[in-house]
Amino acid sequence: MKRSFPFRTGDGREGVVRPARAGDARASLRIVEEAMRERPRTLSVLEEELWGVRDWRRHTVPWGPNGVTLVAEVAGRVAGQLHCTRSGGSRTRRHVAGFGITVARDARGIGVGRALLQALETWAREHGVTRVELGVFAGNERAYGLYRSLGYIEEGTERRGARFPEGDVVRMAKLLDEPAPTTIAPSTTTEGERDA
Ligand SMILES: CC(C)(COP(=O)(O)OP(=O)(O)OC[C@H]1O[C@@H](n2cnc3c(N)ncnc32)[C@H](O)[C@@H]1OP(=O)(O)O)[C@@H](O)C(=O)NCCC(=O)NCCS
Repeated sequence: MKRSFPFRTGDGREGVVRPARAGDARASLRIVEEAMRERPRTLSVLEEELWGVRDWRRHTVPWGPNGVTLVAEVAGRVAGQLHCTRSGGSRTRRHVAGFGITVARDARGIGVGRALLQALETWAREHGVTRVELGVFAGNERAYGLYRSLGYIEEGTERRGARFPEGDVVRMAKLLDEPAPTTIAPSTTTEGERDA
């Protein structure tokens, strides 16, 4: 079945989220590389771990039971990507999927990340995935704000979860089989406390 999720960006342009294709490799890798170089860090990937085109194609997951790789196009250009894999192994974890997401610097703050995550939820519901989880560096306010606005809840912090100065990793998850909260409960901590 053809999968395509049109959306309109905050600055009025046409966008679409769709499963990744082989031809998206270079654009997707550029976006990740650009984000990898940002400081403070937002991604836990190191330069020497960056995928090449072949790696990217090999790891791309078609829309299906084991996960999905999505890209967002804005005005015909790849502006963001999301890679999601379903937990394997024990059947007790098959309802769980984890993801990573990156949006090109010049396309942030206009709804691309939100559109990718909404499409991800469609994938998850279609495949019986009821828990979607992620880790976010404690100081990554934009990502944290986006996840919270979509109903992801903070579950704890892996102190020094990554070996970077930014490396406290906040674990968040959304349960899809629970009614969506009509309002997101206010955080019980302040921004400063969360970073501590
Ligand atoms: C995090 C990221 C994926 C978000 O994508 P995006 O396209 O910029 O996000 P969107 O425009 O869809 O959503 C922005 C939402 O985030 C929140 N947000 C945006 N800027 C924020 C800020 N400075 N502080 C707090 N929340 C913020 C808001 O809730 C906003 O929603 P709204 O515009 O409807 O109010 C993107 O910024 C990115 O790729 N960053 C670098 C890599 C990264 O951090 N990846 C995630 C690692 S966990």
